[in-house]
Amino acid sequence: MNGFRSARRLAVTMIVFTMCSAVCAQQPAAIAATPPMGWNSWNHFNKSVDDATIRAQADAIVSSGMRDAGYLYVNIDDTWEGERDANGVLRSNSKFPDMKALADYVHSKGLKIGIYSTPGPKTCAGFEGSYGHEEQDAQTWADWGIDYLKYDLCGLRDMMKAAPSPEAAHKLMVDSYIKMRDALRKTGRPIVYSLCQYGNDAVWRWGADVGGNLWRTTGDISDRYARMETIGFSQAGLARFAGPGHWNDPDMLEVGNGGMNTEEYRTHMSLWAILAAPLLAGNDLTKMSPDTIALLTNKEVIAIDQDPAGMQGDRVWAEGSMEIWARPLADGSKAVGLFNRHPQPIQMEVKFKDVGFAGKPKVREVWAAKDLGALESFSARVPAHGVVLLRVSK
Ligand code: GAL
Repeated sequence: MNGFRSARRLAVTMIVFTMCSAVCAQQPAAIAATPPMGWNSWNHFNKSVDDATIRAQADAIVSSGMRDAGYLYVNIDDTWEGERDANGVLRSNSKFPDMKALADYVHSKGLKIGIYSTPGPKTCAGFEGSYGHEEQDAQTWADWGIDYLKYDLCGLRDMMKAAPSPEAAHKLMVDSYIKMRDALRKTGRPIVYSLCQYGNDAVWRWGADVGGNLWRTTGDISDRYARMETIGFSQAGLARFAGPGHWNDPDMLEVGNGGMNTEEYRTHMSLWAILAAPLLAGNDLTKMSPDTIALLTNKEVIAIDQDPAGMQGDRVWAEGSMEIWARPLADGSKAVGLFNRHPQPIQMEVKFKDVGFAGKPKVREVWAAKDLGALESFSARVPAHGVVLLRVSK
């Protein structure tokens, strides 16, 4: 009798285990447990991206040490799409002669590969979209070995404009994101699902429900301080919507593209780390200065971004162009950023009791990699458009 019971228990356990390994592997939380890190072609290469570019970037992400620092996804943005064949199967265009071979190459480097599409008939750059072919396209990407999809509203916007009401337009958008979520899940391949609809309709409130592992919260970034800071500092109040498997995405990095100085790029990295933002480099990885590599691969900054508790930080204080942001971390410490948005240096101070520490916590200056000892408060001259990033622990 006992033998029968334990045999039955074993059989039930095995059925549950088999079902779970088939189904649980597809749950969004299993992927993007921390904000995705990698590279995307758009910011630097724009429409000129091709097979050779992707291979060269994959090589450079490894040789520069970025892969080992955590940058895993090599993502092809818009302009890879070709025509559909007689059966409706989407082909890549002549810039990408063999997507499967390209994916194999990227995988052979210990990396993952991402692709781009739209729920509308055409992408922003006017290429073929997935409208009406969602399941077919998801399966094509899974067959190629794709690991990440950026799904950009773009081509659906004209159809939304023609909808009879704002509610109907919203429903059309939400339904189209759900349709692709289901199509991706049906493939059985874990594919990170990145929603790109520029933060419309407060996407952070419903992005996770439609299966998004991340969702853009803003319009496009550009390689100018004014645009980066507008986007970055506008993220206040969104922290509670992010967590393991589902992240706010204030857009890709511009570090190394040349339009900002080192202090400004340091602000970019520090703010994105406090925001638990995806870190998708957007520069040419084959032509990086040591300064750019140091900015992108700083271990302590990446550790803040990738903190396993996955709690996004938020603004805790502001006075004119000065802001203090703090992010709680898994070990009970906090990342604290003193940001100066002014074009001149400013003396700034933080009292640690104001960011939740009693007495004198231990303070480390992250970019300087310097322990400052036990302090009640900290004061520094913060460079123009710059930051002092601290890690504060009990
Ligand atoms: C925009 C998107 C950009 C880029 C571009 C490609 O809508 O926000 O990140 O993907 O489309 O056409």
